[in-house]
Amino acid sequence: MSRTLIRNGTVVNADGTFTADVLVEGEKIAAVTAPGVFTEADTVIDAAGKYVLPGGIDAHTHMEMPFGGTFSADTFFTGTRAAAWGGTTTIIDFAVQAKGTSLLSTLDKWHEKADGHCAIDYGFHMIVSDVNDQSLKEMESCIDAGVNSFKMFMAYPGVFYATDGEILRAMQKATETGSMVMMHAENGIAIDELVAQAIASGRTDPVEHGLTRPPELEGEATSRAIQLARVTGAPLYIVHLSASQALAAVAEARDTGQNVFAETCPQYLYLSIEDLAKPDFEGSKYVASPPLRPKEHQADLWRGLRTNDLSVVSTDHCPFCFKDQKELGRGDFSKIPNGIPGVEHRMDLLHQGVVAGELSLRRWVEVSSATPARMFGLYPRKGVIAAGADADIVVYDPARQQTLGVETHHMAVDYSAYEGMSITGGVSTVLSRGSVVVDGGEFHGSEGHGKFLSRELSQYLV
Ligand code: URP
Ligand code: ZN
Ligand code: ZN
Ligand code: ZN
Repeated sequence: MSRTLIRNGTVVNADGTFTADVLVEGEKIAAVTAPGVFTEADTVIDAAGKYVLPGGIDAHTHMEMPFGGTFSADTFFTGTRAAAWGGTTTIIDFAVQAKGTSLLSTLDKWHEKADGHCAIDYGFHMIVSDVNDQSLKEMESCIDAGVNSFKMFMAYPGVFYATDGEILRAMQKATETGSMVMMHAENGIAIDELVAQAIASGRTDPVEHGLTRPPELEGEATSRAIQLARVTGAPLYIVHLSASQALAAVAEARDTGQNVFAETCPQYLYLSIEDLAKPDFEGSKYVASPPLRPKEHQADLWRGLRTNDLSVVSTDHCPFCFKDQKELGRGDFSKIPNGIPGVEHRMDLLHQGVVAGELSLRRWVEVSSATPARMFGLYPRKGVIAAGADADIVVYDPARQQTLGVETHHMAVDYSAYEGMSITGGVSTVLSRGSVVVDGGEFHGSEGHGKFLSRELSQYLV
């Protein structure tokens, strides 16, 4: 078994920081000790002056996702390789049930896409878009197969949209099985009216995507999802929360002790509706749902991250090329494929929150690794630097300076939503289950190294 010794780094776990050596044997962390206890190893990594973090866990990505007649541009290989470049060593992607198909055939299909192709470990959530007796029954088989979180949509009528009655039935099944419902909470029925009115009156630019999806309709849908969860007893996880109104609803529910959780994404912390309003169709690069909000929402989101009303930061990485994909919506913003690329930059972007004093070091690791691990049944295999855990480790240099952009990123997409942004900090070395996958500005990983993670039920419920 190969031994790697990471020496003299500052280990950052969710519960604190300390100077230590980390000994890796094979795929596992064998020991975390005071500096100097072990000296013999095949490889020694000097981490003095650097952080030693549990590998990032991005619990919300979309590789090769079908949407609006096209597919998101990253494959499971290119997307997981880009993730590794940025210090993320686990993704949880979404298998997408098409209407009229079964959950189990969907799961098979996603295994075919991903198995043997990922550079880092991966799991799946299941998108349920067709609620019926069969798919409700199949939720049980998905859980047995390690997929125990089910995303539903209050948006996108005619595509993924579920009625309140369908949501209620799926939530009852989640309660019965101890599984989790994840909610895309936007009032899609009202939004579709606003969209139709905008198009009919000739308002077709990308910024209209934001104006026709007002934050109140995210707040309303979030409250409704919370009440349905309360009535049924189901644990509820609000995905990609963007608006102050939605955060207020989550905070109120959490204050009562309800099992309601939420994630936000870096784009909502750093980008705004001003980006959507960029001229010459540039705004299309920033079209995602929920939309980017006015800047005023950002301070609330940072506060939510500190108070744990927002427990997780995921990327909702869903890349579509500007040239041949976003283009589909020129002249009609409602046809722009929804999604923003970001899987590579989550750890770095959140580190800017540490630099700016918005987050503590340990909280950075908590929202990006430890809590996603607990939330989605991967702890303590993932999400912690401790003996017995998988050796998914990031040696992070807080002093590095870098500039984000399409010329240097590794995602298979022809633009960066963060073009020109200066970043303090950056990954030095990344290990995935004991193998060095990124080091010294080079990728050393391989397609197929990543293994499917059959997940336990959530370890985060109150
Ligand atoms: O615009 C987005 N978020 N695209 C990905 C699909 C989803 O709703 O998460
Ligand atoms: Zn969504
Ligand atoms: Zn998504
Ligand atoms: Zn392309």
